[in-house]
Amino acid sequence: MENLSLKNHISIQDLNAFYSGHHALRDITVEIPQKQITAIIGPSGCGKSTFLKCFNRLIDLTDGARASGKIIVGGIDVLDGSIDITDVRRRMGLLPQKPNPLPMSIYDNVTYGPRIHGIKDKKRLDGIVEKYLKIAGLWDEVKDRLKSPASKLSIGQQQRLCLARGLAVEPEIILCDEPTSALDPLSAQHIEQQLLKLKNDYTIVIVTHNIHQAMRLADYVVHLYLGELVEYGPASEVFKNPKEERTRAYINGTFLADLKTDAEINLKGNVCPYNFMYAKQALHDLSNGKLLKVVVDYPTAVTEVPRGMEADGHKVLSVKQINKTDWEIVIQK
Ligand SMILES: Nc1ncnc2c1ncn2[C@@H]1O[C@H](COP(=O)(O)OP(=O)(O)OP(=O)(O)O)[C@@H](O)[C@H]1O
Ligand SMILES: [Mg+2]
Repeated sequence: MENLSLKNHISIQDLNAFYSGHHALRDITVEIPQKQITAIIGPSGCGKSTFLKCFNRLIDLTDGARASGKIIVGGIDVLDGSIDITDVRRRMGLLPQKPNPLPMSIYDNVTYGPRIHGIKDKKRLDGIVEKYLKIAGLWDEVKDRLKSPASKLSIGQQQRLCLARGLAVEPEIILCDEPTSALDPLSAQHIEQQLLKLKNDYTIVIVTHNIHQAMRLADYVVHLYLGELVEYGPASEVFKNPKEERTRAYINGTFLADLKTDAEINLKGNVCPYNFMYAKQALHDLSNGKLLKVVVDYPTAVTEVPRGMEADGHKVLSVKQINKTDWEIVIQK
């Protein structure tokens, strides 16, 4: 049952995003609830990172990219060109995919933001370092070497340091883009545990293509596909009883490690539009209802092949990254 006391924190209205000629997000209207974890799910290339980058206008930093529509946070439209973007970014901490500690000590990483905001008192800064390293679950591991370079930490520790650095400027919203995908399982678990604790005080938006992670963490789910909003709602409903067939297919496709397919075609090394043409030919040779697995490694094939196949009237059941370079697309004729 929907929790009526739930307040919305971010209101997205008719959001569109473009990279030069490419229309990456189409007419997205959705509300993000306050002090909950909202997971943005969907296959590679569907626009998850772009969506997040619109929130804090990081998209402005990409040449030729632009966003239109409204993203209202606390009565302010983030996409309004006349607002103070520095203030908006302070209110939204971003935890990136790969940890990006600043080339300085652990201590200086955490105090970097507060110092910029004018805090100079040593005792106060010491307190900030301890507080946020504790919240990020890193304090015990680093308290004796706060002045050593952040780069000496393990990748998992660096990610928790980035979390502490983001929190130290006291944001209201934490944006995470695949925050555990570069981490080992134990470090990933650490980050997940911290996020679950943090939702008591912060609104968290996490991009993940790990459906299991989304199920562990999310209160709310937003499913994007090829730049469009397919479905959103409370996680319990979206995961157990999705309204949209495409959501069901995505969840199932991601779950079934091996969807039983009738034919397979390996298109690694092929560029677009050949990927598309070969996949089309392979489907032509199958009878209706059969499943074709296509393996591609060309970056745009991940979106172009599914888009083309759907345009041809076939059904894309799953799009899944299987290793660093390869994706597996399962299409039903
Ligand atoms: N700088 C860019 N220039 C041109 N096109 C881009 C750029 N960044 C992203 N795109 C395109 O926009 C679409 C959405 O990309 P985005 O990175 O948002 O997807 P994603 O869902 O985060 O994918 P992944 O799961 O692989 O991270 C893709 O088709 C991508 O190729
Ligand atoms: Mg991404």
